[in-house]
Amino acid sequence: MNKETKAPVFAWEDAAPSLKEAFAGKLKIGAAVNTRHLSGDTPECRTIKKQFSVLTLENESKPEPVQPQEGRFVFGPLDRFAAFGEENGIRLRGHTLVWHSQCPAWFFDGADRDLLLKRMRDHIGTVVSRYRGKIAVWDVVNEALKDSGGMRESPWYKIIGEDYIAEAFRAAREADPGARLILNDYNLESSDAKVGTMAAVAEKLLRDGVPLDGIGFQMHLGPDTDLGKLRENVRKITALRSLRPDFQIEVTELDLSSYRWGDLAEDIKWTEERERRFRETYAALFRFYLDLAEEGVLDSVVFWGLSDGVSWLNGFPRRHRNYPLLIGRDLRLKPAFFEVAGIGTGD
Ligand code: G3I
Repeated sequence: MNKETKAPVFAWEDAAPSLKEAFAGKLKIGAAVNTRHLSGDTPECRTIKKQFSVLTLENESKPEPVQPQEGRFVFGPLDRFAAFGEENGIRLRGHTLVWHSQCPAWFFDGADRDLLLKRMRDHIGTVVSRYRGKIAVWDVVNEALKDSGGMRESPWYKIIGEDYIAEAFRAAREADPGARLILNDYNLESSDAKVGTMAAVAEKLLRDGVPLDGIGFQMHLGPDTDLGKLRENVRKITALRSLRPDFQIEVTELDLSSYRWGDLAEDIKWTEERERRFRETYAALFRFYLDLAEEGVLDSVVFWGLSDGVSWLNGFPRRHRNYPLLIGRDLRLKPAFFEVAGIGTGD
């Protein structure tokens, strides 16, 4: 792998290295995408086919677009996603079934526990069974915990009670007994309170026989990420394998923001020092991921976005230019990309 290349290399080029090939047999590497990039001989579509062995839809499979009104399901984008996965031999992740955000208000209108459970089971049953055998992994419940630890007091929690999580997983298992079912959340790698609650919630679900197959670590990281803490917190979840030996984690939404959360400073300048730290952080992360893969704890790492140019982080916390991914604007490969690919191939 030529790390010294000066001329830009683009992610879609035949001569470019491929992340999915670099990690083949060790880890599946993925990205969150939008269906507008899943067709045509475009640089984006070629990049997706060349680079990734697992895909998530960034927005189009959330409850709001999928069931905007009760009983009116919109399956066009998900059907295209399923067909694309099948045609290209790519593992698909369904994101997400039960969430407090991007969920239409009608779910909760006039609902008591029984009615909301019925609506939740109808949504899960209809969507998951339609893609049985096609969507291999579901983020069944997303972001169920509060930032300070404890359960998030979402309408799901307030109207149904804590067991909405167990009921959602049971409904998903019934609809597709073969799918891997994930409970997904953010800041687990940085917050002791949050990872502590997650470990306790997951332990109870497992002891109760709920079909929970793993925990999704979103891993929206920033320049202040403490890698020691990240490793420690991952271990607090992988320790649950003593209860269920095939219990896994997934890295579901990886990115490395150029800004600390809430930082309202002017747009940063991309200096060599930033580049070095960015490269080192990604390299350390992927070395850790490979260790976890060797132990059989992790088999999938998904970046949240195709390239810096389309990352959600360009919009948060305000319209900063952000540089969070290994593939830059114009689909250029960054030095960190080559470093990470080299870790995959052992170069
Ligand atoms: O589709 C509408 C468009 O019609 C409208 O003109 C435009 C005006 O703002 O909004 C568009 O919707 C936006 C949507 O993304 C699609 O682009 C929403 O405003 C915007 O809020 C939405 O943001 C998404 C966010 O989830 C919503 O919470 C991001 O793209 C998406 O990356 C982000 O993903 C989440 C994961 O699902 C869960 N974990 C955190 C992660 C990052 O926030």
